[in-house]
Amino acid sequence: MPTNQTFRIRTMKTRFRRFNDVSMSERILNTLFLLAIGAGYLFALANLYYTHQARDGEAGLSIKDIMIAYHGASSKTRLEAAVTGIMEPNLRYKSDKDVILRWLRDGATEAGYQERVSPILNRDCVVCHNPASNPTLPNLTTYEGVSEVAHAGGASLPALVRVSHIHLFGIAFILYFIGRIFLLCHMNPVLKRIIVAIPFLAMFLDIAAWFITRYFPDFAYVVVMAGGLMGLSMGGQILISLYQMWFSAPHPASQPLSRRERVAECKMALEELGHELKETAHGWIIAGLGLEPVKITNLGDLEAFTRSLQIRHHQMD
Ligand code: HEC
Repeated sequence: MPTNQTFRIRTMKTRFRRFNDVSMSERILNTLFLLAIGAGYLFALANLYYTHQARDGEAGLSIKDIMIAYHGASSKTRLEAAVTGIMEPNLRYKSDKDVILRWLRDGATEAGYQERVSPILNRDCVVCHNPASNPTLPNLTTYEGVSEVAHAGGASLPALVRVSHIHLFGIAFILYFIGRIFLLCHMNPVLKRIIVAIPFLAMFLDIAAWFITRYFPDFAYVVVMAGGLMGLSMGGQILISLYQMWFSAPHPASQPLSRRERVAECKMALEELGHELKETAHGWIIAGLGLEPVKITNLGDLEAFTRSLQIRHHQMD
């Protein structure tokens, strides 16, 4: 549904596409895509909640949960969680739990392991926890193996690398397509350049913060803020796009021009081609570049002539 009925000399070449230029079917496609992505994002938030909440032992998602996810808990190791939880029934004597917990709290040293802990594990745990019968379970037959679950871990480097590459590929696509639609908005171009870049920058920052949080737990705040910023800027792009697609006023460049503006456009276009437009009492005279001066009295004719010169010039290029 082109709203641009006026013939435009200059802007025809330089004008960018806006939502008013988009066909109804493309609007429907864009709208459904944006709605699907928006819904997907809400489910991603819910998923985030369920995977990270209560990592710190308390219901609900908190900054502590994020610190534990990426940095690891300083208070609770996997071994402690196991012997106070699902693995507890495997201990023959309840008192051995306290022996293990005390050893963990004292720094889980090798000497302490040899002296007090290995007899317990060898008796109650290694039946299952040995590499020969269950290679996927923590190996509790050696100090090295036990050490892996006896020190707080957080996200492992390979796990972070895996999630990062999936995240970058997947999200970059989503952000690109949302941004591509958003480019059709009519707004201050500087503002638009910034808004289009924000979600990508937030994504880079978010992923960098995952890795840093592994070593410095306080960076969990950056993880949360960058993630939030990405979500907000993405949501903003979606809402602005949906609004402008269905409710915005026509692009200023597709408004009819005043008589003076139309003459000014012809003048500028002709000057670009090396011609000169002189106003006379009865109309205009076009001269220059070895052209016989042409007299024109009607504005429509002036525009048509200007355009024919533009086309001819174009064909010579
Ligand atoms: C009957 C076999 C069996 C015995 C005996 C056993 N475990 Fe396990 N253990 C498992 C299985 C199976 C898993 C994996 C459970 C899961 O991933 O849900 C596991 C998981 C673990 C984990 C890892 C939990 C995590 O964070 O992923 C630890 C630590 C652990 N056991 C410690 C122990 C200790 C300590 C003992 C001895 C007191 C013990 N286990 C005895 C079968 C056993």
